[in-house]
Amino acid sequence: MTLAHRSLVTIDDFSNKEIEAVFSLASEMSDSMGEQFGICRGKVLASLFFEPSTRTRLSFETAMHRLGGSVISAADVKSTSMAKGESIADMARVVGSYADIIVIRHPWEGTAKVVADYAGVPVINAGDGGHQHPTQTLCDLYTIQKERQTIKGLNVALWGDLKYGRTIHSLIFALAKFGANILFCPTPGLEVPEHVIKKLITEYGGELEKREDSDQTVEGEFFPLDTIYLTPGSPHQLAMMPNISMQIELKAGVDALYVTRPQKERFAADEEGQELREKFPVVNKKLLRGKVFSKTLVMHPLPRIDELAYDLDADPRSMYFKQAARGVPVRMALIALLLGIKEISIPQEDSSSQTDYPLYNQGFGVRCPNPRCVSVQETEIHYLKPEFKIVNREPLTLRCIYCEHGCEPKYVASSDWHEGKLAEKKYHRADSHWAKKIKPENLLIFDSESEAEAHGFKPGTYAREPHQINDEKSDGQS
Ligand code: CP
Repeated sequence: MTLAHRSLVTIDDFSNKEIEAVFSLASEMSDSMGEQFGICRGKVLASLFFEPSTRTRLSFETAMHRLGGSVISAADVKSTSMAKGESIADMARVVGSYADIIVIRHPWEGTAKVVADYAGVPVINAGDGGHQHPTQTLCDLYTIQKERQTIKGLNVALWGDLKYGRTIHSLIFALAKFGANILFCPTPGLEVPEHVIKKLITEYGGELEKREDSDQTVEGEFFPLDTIYLTPGSPHQLAMMPNISMQIELKAGVDALYVTRPQKERFAADEEGQELREKFPVVNKKLLRGKVFSKTLVMHPLPRIDELAYDLDADPRSMYFKQAARGVPVRMALIALLLGIKEISIPQEDSSSQTDYPLYNQGFGVRCPNPRCVSVQETEIHYLKPEFKIVNREPLTLRCIYCEHGCEPKYVASSDWHEGKLAEKKYHRADSHWAKKIKPENLLIFDSESEAEAHGFKPGTYAREPHQINDEKSDGQS
């Protein structure tokens, strides 16, 4: 396996061995920074940041300069032709003809995937809305690995805005891939989104235990633990006894506490200024006096606002400035590997976290419900077909291939109806026994009855709830 000419859109795009290869090269480059100058001479990196950034943008640009390559950049959507309504795909094709590698940050979730699909050169996701930020995760894992020599079996607490924090979403999957336990400590109302939890459980295995009581102490110490994810690799003999296994896991202490700021720029209108959020505890020296935190790495992707006190900056447990500094060698290694300038032989792994789900790509009937998804934006709907993975049949559950949000459409039909003639186009409830018999390749899926009817389908026998069917005359269909 090689990383040459590949893109990094989500953390799932790389296997554990590939991530370790990036770390190994980053470490080597960090120890011989001066020797790396010139290895990317003649190569151009396009740095496209359509949202504010200090660390990610400047560390990518520093990384390319330190490798001796050149950088072209756009740091504001208003200064590009996207302000005139140009699509992401057109912009990607054009920039791909100028640059050898593209780094993009954009507020729409799934944008980096669209750029990777159209650019024709490697693309790195530097943050797409609240979806993922995989290179921040590389910096985070690299820091844990450097400080603790392993990730497997560690207890890592995620603290703060777990709903909109894209660094959190990438990190959750990465920690699960590498066999860490995850302790979820969300600000009330900012819990991990359901689609992230579902993917974690179905694709990474492990067990999720919700803390039953509202008493926010563990071992007598303040710790607002909501849920714990137990890695499949650790012994779960107590997993059937919620809270007890939590206590056992916590006796070992918290190995890393990953703090995040409230991502206010992504809050829905009704989430602004809710008081609970303001009362969520600040992580400071006093809070970390507890025994469970005695050897904790205090991490933060930065920027911080007021959730992480300055009194911790000189504390040896604080890692956040190291995380940011390590962004340069990590991104140097990534650029060199994706450009194929450095090759590392990486054994193929059989434990890929990517599951091969059937696709729903008919392009009609159902739209991604996420208003921040790239696939529903006005400039993009002319060429982007809605496309979903069918991740479950009971209940029918789709996952958008761009932003990974989930939806459970209520109505289906079959393209194979009456030997494909569609002479009698009928739709049925997605949870009816009739619907479950349709092969994935024949599924037509509808958000609503009106959507099915707009496409010329009529309600079939199983379009109604069972109690309604009893009250209606059969329409003669099976
Ligand atoms: N951690 C991070 O993404 O920081 P910036 O927003 O400054 O790039």
